[in-house]
Amino acid sequence: MNILVVGAGGREHALAWKLSQEANVFACPGNPGIAECAQILPVDASDAEVLKSVCVEHKIDLVVIGPEDPLIAGLADELREVTNVFGPGAAGAELEGSKAFSKDMMARAGVPTAAYKVFTDFEPAEAFATGRFEAGHEVAVKASGAALGKGVIVCGSMDEAEDALRRMMLDKEFGSAGDSVVIEDRLHGREFSLLTIVSGRSYRSLPVAQDYKPAYDGNEGPNTGGMGTYSPVEWLSDDLLERTERTVVEPLVSLMADRGIDYRGILFSGLMVQDGVPLCLEYNVRFGDPETQSVMRRLGSGFADALMAAAQGKEIPEFEVLDNSVVTVVMASGGYPGKYEKGLAIDVPELGPETVVFHAGTKLDQGRVVTAGGRVLGVSASGASIPDARAAAYQSAEQITFKDRMMRSDIALDA
Ligand code: AMP
Ligand code: GLY
Repeated sequence: MNILVVGAGGREHALAWKLSQEANVFACPGNPGIAECAQILPVDASDAEVLKSVCVEHKIDLVVIGPEDPLIAGLADELREVTNVFGPGAAGAELEGSKAFSKDMMARAGVPTAAYKVFTDFEPAEAFATGRFEAGHEVAVKASGAALGKGVIVCGSMDEAEDALRRMMLDKEFGSAGDSVVIEDRLHGREFSLLTIVSGRSYRSLPVAQDYKPAYDGNEGPNTGGMGTYSPVEWLSDDLLERTERTVVEPLVSLMADRGIDYRGILFSGLMVQDGVPLCLEYNVRFGDPETQSVMRRLGSGFADALMAAAQGKEIPEFEVLDNSVVTVVMASGGYPGKYEKGLAIDVPELGPETVVFHAGTKLDQGRVVTAGGRVLGVSASGASIPDARAAAYQSAEQITFKDRMMRSDIALDA
């Protein structure tokens, strides 16, 4: 099987790494890490016509689209004209492209989620938020459009809410993503991400991973794309997982199908467990990053076949899940998620066989691998237990050096 992975981050490296155990993998635009397990095609990955001809030329049987932007733009629809594609079309990807649409679908499907309202004007939004605080709630203010995970501001006071609404609706800090804003009640509880392979009405979830979004130890500091993950998540009981699939995944998948949306790809449910009940914070339409880096290392055989079946709209076959534990620590550029320097040389020594270093923000500069983004590497280690994997991941990460490197020291510590 020939598979083309579209994307250039740590998630795509992890996908290419796993798929290359089962298939012949191409990638574009890729990165220096992906180049170790896939053939990089040096073409413009943002041009659908170019990708179509690449699919034909290299006899691609399956395309796996990594990031949300091309999915929202409808790349899957275009490539499906020439081959099988794992990734929803534009109609399905609206779940991530519009939080207003997503909340509406949750409400229609009866998915448990925070109470909310959508606004396009500042004054009524401000009045609504004031009312929620007067009624004893706090709120989360969310730019409706896709804003790289940064368009959500959780507000503990009306001052904070007013500031958030001002930034999104008046100052346009998130551009057109803030044209429409969702205000919802703040929930409290522990979060987890569930990645589910969906093929029309059939679905099968991947092992669960726990993400750490804030930049600094102790979950302090600004939100990031994710600073580390671990899998399995032992605090999550089978009952709770089953309940999440039954109340959050199943009704949404059915509703999408009822509406004629033939969803073939990942459904990423962001959840918060409040008083024992899993509530849906959001849906994404792609694999999580860096969840995928831990999840891929827990899969045995059958993953490529599962993606292919979903891409063809068939029943998803079982795939093998290993009983190892994995911890992934993200090494970021100093300053991330704010301003940071790029082009710094990275030194990766020989590491043990339990470690895989997934490249995220790297590039080649005169034959040397240098930093090229905020999240630079995901150092992923497998072990017999979470503490074993954690110790190995940090031992490896400590040996990898680049100027001003930054990482949290408490990934998986509370597991
Ligand atoms: P989202 O992109 O909607 O998942 O939001 C990003 C992050 O903001 C989530 O992972 C939560 O940590 C937080 N968040 C979002 N919605 C809420 C909410 N209603 N209550 C509390 N925290 C929230
Ligand atoms: N790590 C969270 C995300 O991929 O959205």
